[in-house]
Amino acid sequence: MKRQLQNVNFENRIKEKNYDSIIVSGKKLFNFSSNDYLSLSKNKKLISESKKWIDLFGVGLSSSRLISGNLEKISEIECLLSKFLGREKSLIFSGGFLMNSTLIPALTNNNVGQRNDVQIFSDKLNHASINYGCYLTRQKIARYNHLDLNHLEFLLKKSEKKKPKFIITETIFSMDGDTIDIENLRFIAKKFNAFLYLDEAHSLGIYGKKGAGISSSGKYEKEIIVGTFGKSFGCFGSFVSASRKVIEKIVNSCSGLIYTTALPPAVYASIFAALKLMPSLNSERKKILENSKFLRTNLSDLSIDLGYSDSHIIPLILKSEKMCLKLKKYLETNGYFVKAITSPTVMKGKERIRLSVTATMKRKKLGQFLEILKNLI
Ligand SMILES: Cc1ncc(COP(=O)(O)O)c(C=O)c1O
Repeated sequence: MKRQLQNVNFENRIKEKNYDSIIVSGKKLFNFSSNDYLSLSKNKKLISESKKWIDLFGVGLSSSRLISGNLEKISEIECLLSKFLGREKSLIFSGGFLMNSTLIPALTNNNVGQRNDVQIFSDKLNHASINYGCYLTRQKIARYNHLDLNHLEFLLKKSEKKKPKFIITETIFSMDGDTIDIENLRFIAKKFNAFLYLDEAHSLGIYGKKGAGISSSGKYEKEIIVGTFGKSFGCFGSFVSASRKVIEKIVNSCSGLIYTTALPPAVYASIFAALKLMPSLNSERKKILENSKFLRTNLSDLSIDLGYSDSHIIPLILKSEKMCLKLKKYLETNGYFVKAITSPTVMKGKERIRLSVTATMKRKKLGQFLEILKNLI
């Protein structure tokens, strides 16, 4: 399938709270393809804070954070983020793709001009940004079977004892909506004295204590938490949270922090406002979980393969590009916007329609969606 950019629009999105609709080719559709899980991209507090910071600081910081772009407000946000995640220190980055792809080489001492022999163990279904980061280390990567901790342990046992080790995984997988077994993963990491790199992109804001993610259930001293603000935080940017020592190393070695312009003030402002709001959003989180369960149960009753999804990301695994495009077209005709996810994003034979559930979706609308699917099956 040839990838194409498709123009979209949003009609009276803020004023009329048209949060879940999207306009595609002039037609208003119900959007099942957004990662704005808590609908914060349209939140009044985020918008007004962003406007305020534009008035105070302008629209750009015009320098990297290590030159003259490190606006003092940024460390206030990073302190609040560390407190929220229960970690020693945090750093805010530009987009999560840039962060993962440059942070993994930096942490493993495999930046340009440096070579360090480390062993990386990465889940086979990790996000492309993690895979890029792993490739850039130019180390041999052991890719363990998806969520298979027996396989991970088998590979760790085979590895050289003395070499530093990194286990890298998403906590909720972006295309499958399934979840890691955090307790056993921590147990294995401790047993082999490995660093544990957890990408919380799709869990943050929804799961864990006050939305602090799957990893907020406990702590392991060699843990590195990363995530993006482009999903449940509704804005842009990303972060890493870890021990003071690890953060110091990143400031001194990560090209994706050193050689890029700081985010615009308005973006820092929206991250700040979202962070302040996050603990108070329990009813929104509850609604996402209830609606996700409702959808998953009813879709399973229709004998649709949902893989092992146990979250708000629900794949309809149709196993063929043709079937995905057919269903996409049918749903679009009936008022729903979905995306077909095909190879190479997912493996051939695992093609799917990916649904994501947001806090503002109404149960009635989800019921109508199920009726429309029933009519087809
Ligand atoms: C697991 C995961 N990590 C990282 C990223 C990249 O984040 P960003 O969109 O901020 O570049 C994504 C985005 O899709 C993701 O799903």
